[in-house]
Amino acid sequence: MTLLKVGLIGCGRISDIYLKNCAAFDGLEITACASLDIGESRAKAAQHGVPKACEPAELLSDPDIDCVLNLTIPAAHADICRMALQSGKHVYSEKPFVTNLNDGREILELARTRGLLVGNAPDTFLGGRWQTVRKLLDSGVIGAPTGVSAFVPTHGVERHHPNPDFYYQEGGGPLLDLGPYYLTAMVFLLGPITRVAGMARKTFPERMIENGPRHGAMMPVEVDTHCLSMFEFDSGVIGQMMVSFDVWESETPRLEIYGEDGTICIPDPDPGDGANIFAGPVWYRTRAESRWTMRPRPEAPAEWCVAEIDHGYNWDARGIGLLDLAYAVRDGRPPRASGAMAYHVCEIMQGMLRSPEIGAFVNISSRCDVPDPLPQNFPESEG
Ligand SMILES: NC(=O)c1ccc[n+]([C@@H]2O[C@H](COP(=O)([O-])OP(=O)(O)OC[C@H]3O[C@@H](n4cnc5c(N)ncnc54)[C@H](O)[C@@H]3O)[C@@H](O)[C@H]2O)c1
Repeated sequence: MTLLKVGLIGCGRISDIYLKNCAAFDGLEITACASLDIGESRAKAAQHGVPKACEPAELLSDPDIDCVLNLTIPAAHADICRMALQSGKHVYSEKPFVTNLNDGREILELARTRGLLVGNAPDTFLGGRWQTVRKLLDSGVIGAPTGVSAFVPTHGVERHHPNPDFYYQEGGGPLLDLGPYYLTAMVFLLGPITRVAGMARKTFPERMIENGPRHGAMMPVEVDTHCLSMFEFDSGVIGQMMVSFDVWESETPRLEIYGEDGTICIPDPDPGDGANIFAGPVWYRTRAESRWTMRPRPEAPAEWCVAEIDHGYNWDARGIGLLDLAYAVRDGRPPRASGAMAYHVCEIMQGMLRSPEIGAFVNISSRCDVPDPLPQNFPESEG
């Protein structure tokens, strides 16, 4: 049964996985797609069996479309969100939600006054890996959380993305590109953040595209590409994060949560591979146990596995947040991957970028509700 008819704007690299998953999810139907290039939109529609390809303006005025799926580049996110809401449609966007906070506030207010929903990627926190971590935390395995560390060392995207320019322009950079995955997961796991500090640098003034038809072309770099931050949660937990496009190799890629009675570790949550961040093992080690326990651990003897803490969506399930939004529309509740949480994460990231300019901590004024865990049997759980 279709809950939401969706129009896709932005037919680039990330759109394939959304189109594939949305076709498989019962509840969503992508009925049209549009982009800046009608040829690209037609090709994408033909490839995925979408009935219509058109210009963005035609899609926005189509009365049969309930929701816009906004997969444009970061600099276009806010305009497309605003136009979707002004056209009476819900909107679900890729990250980052916005590149300036005024846009974010305006979009949330527009949605509120029109009775429409705003959802935003990343929805990786709804994947099996992060849901398993949440179950471990909620069950008290490591006791009260005290700290969190995330290390995300990469060497950028120019080796695999054919048009990587936007990653190095205003609205790009590793913090706005990779930060949302980790910060959204942290807010889901540990609650809202109250203050932040940061340091950042730009290592290379220009970079070479190393794949595709533009191989060898140089791109100017406008943004900081190696970013460190410290932050404090409402709960008193303190955290640190490194996100970089300047690191060739590292043994640190991991996210760890420290508690009074143990540690949870998510090894190598590689953001370059969406499947890897929805899926993959979770380790924990407690005061009482002298070795790491891994969940899920398919190679382990059955008696070592505790089925109730494993979880679904252990695959590249991008779009699961949009499916949740479809049920949210039906049931009159907020979506889990909400615009309010995305705004909070954007304010945190903007604070991390501003802190080195002013040489001080930046207080975060927004708060958001922490989303409920995704039921193990979603979407059947929604009835
Ligand atoms: N590529 C990835 O691996 C990846 C992974 C996760 C998230 N994302 C996010 O997804 C978004 C899109 O990334 P991508 O890699 O698919 O980009 P892309 O450059 O491959 O595609 C962008 C698409 O948006 C369209 N577009 C741009 N400006 C527009 C406008 N003003 N109006 C209408 N259409 C417009 C372009 O025509 C193109 O179809 C970004 O926010 C990015 O951060 C990308």
